[in-house]
Amino acid sequence: MVHIKTEEQVGLMKQAALLVSKTLTEVAKVLKPGMTTLEIDKLCFEFAKDHKGVLSFYNYHGYPHNICASVNDVVVHGFPNNTPLKEGDIVSIDFGVILDGWHGDHAYTFILGEVAPELLQLVKVTKESLYKGIEQAIINNRVGDIGYAIQEHTEKKHGYGVVRELVGHGLGKSLHEDPQVPNYGKRGTGLKLKENIVLAIEPMINLGTHKVYTDDDGWTVRTEDGKASVHFEHDVCVKKNEALILSDFSIIEAAEKLNSNLNSSYY
Ligand code: MF3
Ligand code: CO
Repeated sequence: MVHIKTEEQVGLMKQAALLVSKTLTEVAKVLKPGMTTLEIDKLCFEFAKDHKGVLSFYNYHGYPHNICASVNDVVVHGFPNNTPLKEGDIVSIDFGVILDGWHGDHAYTFILGEVAPELLQLVKVTKESLYKGIEQAIINNRVGDIGYAIQEHTEKKHGYGVVRELVGHGLGKSLHEDPQVPNYGKRGTGLKLKENIVLAIEPMINLGTHKVYTDDDGWTVRTEDGKASVHFEHDVCVKKNEALILSDFSIIEAAEKLNSNLNSSYY
């Protein structure tokens, strides 16, 4: 069932989404080679707790950590671990909180130092595709229009692989609500969008094949060919002329630019 939010509820969801953005900004300030993803998990846990956020990933269907930290060939749902990050890694940090009963859930991919130009391009195009999807999140469009826009920009235009097995989703009192929001699809198909439906739009785009597999841990999703994958996620409210983006990359990007250990040369 699709839940349409009231204006007041959208305002509360913006606060939840913003707390995630602020947490990811703290990550952007300190991230550097040598740091472990478990240290990032601890930072996110403490920052969110200090700001009255309830951690939403921990124990979600048994998920054993507070963040997903997906490095290089890991697409999503990577477990934080004790392996130090190194120059040339790309890492998606996906984090969620509940604030006043409402979920925020979004993700950002960081680049540590110098990487091959093809990786910079993958990060750039994946972020662009997220905004192309968001442009479609307006009333009377359909869910398929979002996926179509993302797939056109990534698969058609750049030959990347769009992950099929995992999708974006509705967001609200629950972390995953209807509708599912695939990053692929046909124009004019799927649910018709109404004002104040809130969606988490999250392209997962692979440099090579779209095919993925799940590790024996039951969570970690990896590319079948071992090539890199990038993931960005925004929380978005459907509106009449232009979608309202509830989460905020601008504060993350500002911190990223000031951190000389991070590579933001693609924008
Ligand atoms: N943004 C992720 C998703 O929508 C959140 C996963 S939560 C987890 O799939 F607990 F399952 F990791
Ligand atoms: Co999500």
